[in-house]
Amino acid sequence: MNMQWDAETYGRDFSFVHRYGDGVAALIGAAPGSTVLDLGCGNGALTHRLRQSGFQVMGLDASPDLLSAARKSYPDIEFVLGDAVDFSLPEPVDVVFSNAVFHWIEKKCHPAMLACVSRALKPGGEFVFEFGGRGNTAWIEAALERAFSREGYRYQNPFFFPTIGEYAPMVEAAGFRVEYAQLFARPTPLQGEDGLGNWIRMFLKGPFEALPGPARQAVIRRAEAELRPVLCRDGQWYADYVRLRMKARKL
Ligand code: BEZ
Repeated sequence: MNMQWDAETYGRDFSFVHRYGDGVAALIGAAPGSTVLDLGCGNGALTHRLRQSGFQVMGLDASPDLLSAARKSYPDIEFVLGDAVDFSLPEPVDVVFSNAVFHWIEKKCHPAMLACVSRALKPGGEFVFEFGGRGNTAWIEAALERAFSREGYRYQNPFFFPTIGEYAPMVEAAGFRVEYAQLFARPTPLQGEDGLGNWIRMFLKGPFEALPGPARQAVIRRAEAELRPVLCRDGQWYADYVRLRMKARKL
């Protein structure tokens, strides 16, 4: 999926994305000093955390804006512009790591992405990742479907949120043994009174392009009104995230 990232807003208002990455990074079993590719590294915050844990890291991302923010913040880390579904590395690495990226990739492109990951790893190398799993943002999506429909438009969920049963065979088919898999709910606090609206504006630019200008705000306001009793507690908005977390080993 092509998406224009606003690196400044992303870093300021959506820093939870990399903070939550620590849990999945804890699944890495490779020794300090091992080489780690952070696939879809974004602004590099998590790549930097991995380096602080003692790994030799590099980051790859398809967004020039996020990469230039990453290079500015961490000039001594190697960041490479590249597409997760079509990349190769000069030397294979010990670990490929990825957080909150794969749901952006269309289902039909995952076999190509998994083949690139497999080629990028040494035999026995670890593939550790987390992304949105089945049920992710289900309340938000349902409210948007209704709000779009009231305006006479159809909301199309642009994301791939698989179950373990759907995704583990895809990983295995790319030459991995799945060693760990978990699908779990993680309601995720959103920043500020307008947290839900800002989340929608930041991440759902694609579906909103179909709407004429005045309808956009109406849809967001309607979704907020519908979701407030479910996703807002004491003035704090939460996104109804569900995470699919896995560790697999290259055979
Ligand atoms: C997620 O991390 O689950 C996510 C982020 C943006 C849009 C949809 C899902």
